[in-house]
Amino acid sequence: MNKVIEQGRNNLELAEKNMTALMKLRADFSKRKPFKDVRIGMALHITKETGVLVRTLRDGGAQVAIASCNPLSTQDDVAAALAHEGTAVYGHKGETRKQYYDYLKKVIAFKPNITIDDGCDLVTEIHKNHRSLLKGMIGGCEETTTGIIRLRAMEKAGALMYPIIAVNDNDTKHLMDNYYGTGQSTIDGILRASNVLIAGKTVVVAGYGSCGKGVALRAAGLGARVIVTEVKPFRALQAAMDGFSVMPMRKAAPLGDLFITVTGNCEVLRREHFRVMKSGAILVNSGHFDTEIDLPALGSLAKKRRRVRPFLDEYSLPSGKIVYLVAEGRLANLAAAEGHPSEVMSMSFCGQALAVEYLLKKRGGLAPGVHLLPEEIDLKISRLQLSAMGVSIDKLTEKQNKYLSGWQEGT
Ligand SMILES: NC(=O)c1ccc[n+]([C@@H]2O[C@H](COP(=O)([O-])OP(=O)(O)OC[C@H]3O[C@@H](n4cnc5c(N)ncnc54)[C@H](O)[C@@H]3O)[C@@H](O)[C@H]2O)c1
Repeated sequence: MNKVIEQGRNNLELAEKNMTALMKLRADFSKRKPFKDVRIGMALHITKETGVLVRTLRDGGAQVAIASCNPLSTQDDVAAALAHEGTAVYGHKGETRKQYYDYLKKVIAFKPNITIDDGCDLVTEIHKNHRSLLKGMIGGCEETTTGIIRLRAMEKAGALMYPIIAVNDNDTKHLMDNYYGTGQSTIDGILRASNVLIAGKTVVVAGYGSCGKGVALRAAGLGARVIVTEVKPFRALQAAMDGFSVMPMRKAAPLGDLFITVTGNCEVLRREHFRVMKSGAILVNSGHFDTEIDLPALGSLAKKRRRVRPFLDEYSLPSGKIVYLVAEGRLANLAAAEGHPSEVMSMSFCGQALAVEYLLKKRGGLAPGVHLLPEEIDLKISRLQLSAMGVSIDKLTEKQNKYLSGWQEGT
């Protein structure tokens, strides 16, 4: 067998060993085939963990076509192994913007009746340019915060034409994957790209949402002094109470050695900040799109740009200072490393698989718009993961149950 395919298979097998909860669902789906006759079009990071989800949906009876949701995140060996197994896979690491959209169009040409999207580019493309597909669409699932923000904007504008489950909003997704996953894998991406020592450095984390909290925690754990920047008062308060310095980026810019953006916003780091940074500062983004660091401004400000090593570019500024950019400003954990570890993706993708099953059960009964998965499904995922980790918990006694549902007993 071709060596690349073989490596992809080995990686998929390794992920399967660490995705026990999802593999339990797979065993059940394989027997019941709940996805028979369903055509699932996916735009997700093509990683080994996504490969395990693809195999799970296929074993449940679905036909699947997948494109990447980021030009730099595809693991080519995994893509080759999935294609070798008969899945329609469109993506390679280092796609151009044109190829990226061409690949989305290939998934659309497959005529999916369920979409699984990460960032909402597939859904947007269908709504903008392939509206004939909308009629037969059962529903969709969205993986990330940025995608949910875009979907809610579509919903508000009356533009969203089918029901979409906000899988990101499961507790077992954003409080796990975004927090523990992004926390660890962003640091992994920075280390692989630069091999810099984190201890003793000043790390500026922009955004104190689920991702930012995880990144700040892990950076502090490695010995960094962490500064947080925020725009929401409560999140800023949380960061301050968690013991981090909180200040505007204007003030943090001259202090940071490493800057990590995880806001889902645009131009969080911009010209006025680049100008005052220390020489040698490293700029990293782990938010969904490459909009958080103002790359056009950095490019126009720089006198020279050169690639120092894979995923690390050096920009020489007119002042004689240099700054480094990791992974072209694309999410560092997936571009420069391998994305989140399998264990945490197991929960995210249990959410995706169960959301597809939920859409099918509710077929025709959900209005176009953004929907949450019912709490019992989220709890089922927690139970599956606890059992995978060999953790057992207490049960309410009858008396406790009664106490918690009553109002008459006080002191
Ligand atoms: N790298 C990954 O693997 C990965 C994983 C999950 C989510 N994401 C992406 O990361 C981003 C953040 O996700 P999240 O779940 O933490 O979102 P979130 O909404 O929970 O948090 C984002 C925070 O950024 C703050 N913010 C917005 N604009 C800001 C600005 N200009 N300066 C400072 N703070 C600002 C918001 O107030 C908010 O508190 C999204 O784009 C999401 O899609 C990436």
